This record gives sequence, structure tokens and C-alpha cells, in this order.
Amino acid sequence: APIQTPDPATCNPPADTAPADLSCCLPYGTGTAIADFKPPPASAPLRVRPAAHLADENYVAKYEWAVELMTKLPDDDPRSFAQQWRVHCAFCDAVYDQVGFQDLDLQIHNSWLFFPWHRFYLYFHERILGKLIGDDTFALPFWNWDAPDGMTFPAIYANQSSPLYDERRNPAHLPPFTVDLDYNGTDSNIPRDQQIQQNLTTMYHGIQCQEDGTLLRAALPAGRPARPRAGTVEQVPHGPLHPWVGDPSQPNGEDMGPFYSAARDPVFYAHHGNVDRMWHIWRGLTPSNTDFTDADWLDATFLFYDEDARLVRARVRDCLDAAALRYTYQDVGLPWLNAKP
Ligand code: C2O
Repeated sequence: APIQTPDPATCNPPADTAPADLSCCLPYGTGTAIADFKPPPASAPLRVRPAAHLADENYVAKYEWAVELMTKLPDDDPRSFAQQWRVHCAFCDAVYDQVGFQDLDLQIHNSWLFFPWHRFYLYFHERILGKLIGDDTFALPFWNWDAPDGMTFPAIYANQSSPLYDERRNPAHLPPFTVDLDYNGTDSNIPRDQQIQQNLTTMYHGIQCQEDGTLLRAALPAGRPARPRAGTVEQVPHGPLHPWVGDPSQPNGEDMGPFYSAARDPVFYAHHGNVDRMWHIWRGLTPSNTDFTDADWLDATFLFYDEDARLVRARVRDCLDAAALRYTYQDVGLPWLNAKP
């Protein structure tokens, strides 16, 4: 059977490394209705997500304004930044049990739930931001870490006077330091050219040279212990970039390091934009790159708050086509396609 929408009325304190007084429960009261997700109409404008390092001034101003408005919403508004980052915590940190299995946590990482859950998460986050500034074409940026020009921390997030700034980051990894997509906790300090080549090879490994299903990875039907196994891109480069960004002087490498606080850093959404883009691109590369057809995957459901602050139940099968969700990515090329070592 598929993993079911958690019961928002039974919410536990987060486990993991989270502070004892943190609550990540979705705002929910006895009168809260849950609506079924409906994709936007086919006539809705297509939102084109730009590469963060190519975004122009007008775009950045608009994006900063949207995040600022989100930050200023009252903390108990489900669309506020304070609630938005907690949604990630809610699905990662044993906050909800699997429906029907009180001793099993609901956790969307390290399994086939990873890509669809994060796709929906960005989808709703993006629409909330757009709605706050009255722009139904607004699209989140993506951190283009798979191309040489994107292989530094995206500068728009490093401006201290911007709402995109977060002080809990590794100061040594801010621009112009070159990203290591396979970071293991220690900087290798090799020349930039060499690091870029390594990164392209890492990308090639994660996407090009793999067997069927290894990008999406291990099945997680209801009733199985969480985190069976991560797909290739979830493992690398998705995984290493979290601690690479987080501040090593914080107790757990906050913000980007641990599950509970990762989405408190605005760059989280750009990082996951590119992770989502990799799923999207992988699907289009060859006809044999197909999604699972197992109903336990297709009918798995999650909960999110939408741009009208309604609680929505979303099914995996409704997020498989980015075009149907009315968004796409700026076309920036794929320099790793032939980066065979
Ligand atoms: Cu939900 Cu990059 O983690």
C-alpha cells in the first residue's frame, strides 16, 4: 500500500538534532479542511525558473521582495517563512508517524519519496511567493551547480542586506570558493579547473552511468522502515552540498546541514531547484529513463499548504510532469553530458 497523508492532529516533537523546544507541526485545528490537490489549468502561464547566477537585477529585486513579504507574515500563517521551513522539518524528523504504523516514522528522504515530495514542496513555495507579490509568472531560481559558472555559492544569497541572506553558513565557502559536489567534510583545495573537472565527472556518474531506477531509488511502501536507500542524485551531489553550505561552527552545521533546519536557509530552495531539474532532465535524456509505475509510489500522498493557506493532499502521480504543473527551467546546457572519466 502507498504511504498515506499523515494525520495532522497527531504530531510529535522533531527527533534528530533539533532543539528540544522546536515544533514543526503543520498549523492545524479541528476545523481545518483538507482539499485534494488539483494541477493548475493548462492555460496558466508557464513559470520559467532562472539559473541563480544569471538572474538579472529586476528578477532579484522581485524575488527579494517576495521573500521579505513571506518573512513578514505572522508566524502562525502557514504561508509565512517561519512555517514554510518547518514543513520540511515536519516530513524529515519523525514529526508524524506513518498512518497505521505508530512505531514507524514518516520520513521522505532516502527513498523514492525524495524527488516527488521536494517537487511539490517547491511548487507550493513558489506559488506562495508569486501570490504575495501578485505575479503568477514568478518562478524560483535554481543553483546551477552542474555547470562551471554555477559552481560557486550563488552570489544573490550572499548579500548581507538581502532577505536571501542567512548568517548560519560556512564563511569559507562563500564566493569565489569553488563548490565540491562530492564534499566529504574536508576541503580538497585543488585548483579550480581540476575541481570543475571532478564535479562534471560526479554529475556524469550520478545521471549518465547508472542502471534503471537508481536515480529514483528504493521503494518505500507503507509499513516499511523509513530511509531504505537514496537515489544517485539524492546521495551525490544533493547530500554533500547540505553540510558544504552549513556553518561548521554551529552545533549541527546549521542551517543547511541537518534536516530540521535546512529549509531555514533561503538557498535551500535554489539547491532543490537544481535537484528537481536533474530529475526533469534525466527523464528527457533517453526513452529508458522512466519513472516508476508502481501504484505504491504513484498513489503516495503528502500534505502541503497552498498559496491560499489551504491544506492540500497531493499525490505523487500528479507531479510527474513539470509542464502540467506549469513550470520549467531556463535552458542552460548540460556540460557534464559527455564528461566520461
Ligand atoms: Cu529535504 Cu535537501 O533535503
